[in-house]
Amino acid sequence: MIRKRTAILISGRGSNMLALIEAAKAADYPAEIVGVFSNKLDAGGLAIAREHGIATAALSHRDYPDRAAFDTVIDAQLREWGAEIVCLAGFMRVLSTPFVEHWRGRMLNIHPSLLPAFRGLDTHQRALDAGVSEHGCTVHWVTPGLDEGDVILQARVPVLYGDTPDTLAARILVEEHRIYPIALATVARGDVQT
Ligand code: GAR
Repeated sequence: MIRKRTAILISGRGSNMLALIEAAKAADYPAEIVGVFSNKLDAGGLAIAREHGIATAALSHRDYPDRAAFDTVIDAQLREWGAEIVCLAGFMRVLSTPFVEHWRGRMLNIHPSLLPAFRGLDTHQRALDAGVSEHGCTVHWVTPGLDEGDVILQARVPVLYGDTPDTLAARILVEEHRIYPIALATVARGDVQT
């Protein structure tokens, strides 16, 4: 079986990254994780990736004059790894349009809401403020518009009486870890296209 070479972009603890790494250990999983890139030098996920024998790279966007310059070095790293698919997993930085267009149809993101509801940040607080009865997470294609790409897979959870942003986030994170590996497998097999 040909496994699609997949790179993961992170900015933080990397729990979704780890879910993808673990899933890709299965012999019949259609993607292999070839590298993890972080725009934060101290991202916790970098050490976790290394513990699993995955190549890592970390560069601070602060060292580059503008977004395009930084995205050019990300792209060079992805090419060095021979990446065919890119998974954003808690990568908290907007990517430039040329970069996104270059990877269009090959780049996924996980977002902690039921898109198109609650694009952007602070999704759990905003869901509580809005009084919704259901919330969740979405794996979607990355397009130039923030959190606007077509949905690949979603999971729903109930909002419970007394929920705080943290309790809601924890309930949803379990679902994120469940659906991201399924979505990547679906994309890697070519069973879904944008
Ligand atoms: C996840 O909840 C992910 O959905 C969210 O950041 C968290 C990263 O956690 N992503 C976004 O908000 C993207 N706008 P992780 O580093 O443990 O995977």
